[in-house]
Amino acid sequence: MEIKNILITGASRGIGQALFEKFSNAEGYFVCGIARSFSNEPDTFSEKTENRNCLRLGFDLSDFSEYPFLIKTISDFFPKGPILLVNNAGLLYYSAFENTTEDQFDETMKVNLKIPYFLIKKVLPLMDKNSHIVNVSSMGGFQGSQKYAGLSAYSASKGALAILTECLALELKPKGISVNCLCLGAVQTEMLTTAFPGYKAPVTPAEMASFIMDFGLNSHTVLNGVIVPLSLSNP
Ligand SMILES: NC(=O)c1ccc[n+]([C@@H]2O[C@H](COP(=O)([O-])OP(=O)(O)OC[C@H]3O[C@@H](n4cnc5c(N)ncnc54)[C@H](OP(=O)(O)O)[C@@H]3O)[C@@H](O)[C@H]2O)c1
Repeated sequence: MEIKNILITGASRGIGQALFEKFSNAEGYFVCGIARSFSNEPDTFSEKTENRNCLRLGFDLSDFSEYPFLIKTISDFFPKGPILLVNNAGLLYYSAFENTTEDQFDETMKVNLKIPYFLIKKVLPLMDKNSHIVNVSSMGGFQGSQKYAGLSAYSASKGALAILTECLALELKPKGISVNCLCLGAVQTEMLTTAFPGYKAPVTPAEMASFIMDFGLNSHTVLNGVIVPLSLSNP
């Protein structure tokens, strides 16, 4: 069986953690998850056993000057490039438009848009034909969806990520690499409970991770450049 390499950002908690666990518990995958809060101590850094081959890479993806180190570490772990990159890491400041600071706006754009943009650019040379890039956006960034107060910077950054998806789908088509975007509705994670305390989401991280896993592995044979709304709660 040919091993498939999977790269997931924001794998330390929430949806990314659930997705990382699904791939690392399934046979036939090497999975590398990136997050700032992972330790880079050798013992916890990676697990290599017969059925389990995963790397938790502690790295701040906004540290663009260190991307050569990041790419070297990923290339050392994967025998070949990733067949699936899931740009899942995200940041949400819940803040009314009139209170949102320039720093909050810049950080939101950096994590939700600039990181996927430059990570894709650096990972691309490792990716082969028939690979898939999945950008994780939000219903807030889906044109025409119901909008919620306090999410202007966040939703604008996710809308931009959706349009970036369409642009890259076109530009990467000659390389045989597909790029699609998932606009998630509410999922019960730390990000959601911090922004909306007490709100009960209809979907768990594990349920959303199962969908993303299947979509990431299978949909790109028939889909490229699509922005998919995924919501039980919006509108
Ligand atoms: N939960 C929802 O209802 C919902 C709805 C729509 C869309 N989404 C989107 O789904 C994705 C996952 O959301 P979630 O709810 O699981 O969020 P979460 O619980 O807040 O997790 C965010 C992940 O991103 C990582 N991260 C943030 N900044 C990073 C950086 N600079 N470098 C590396 N990793 C970074 C965090 O790890 P560290 O802190 O360890 O770095 C964490 O693992 C996000 O893109 C979010 O916008 C979520």
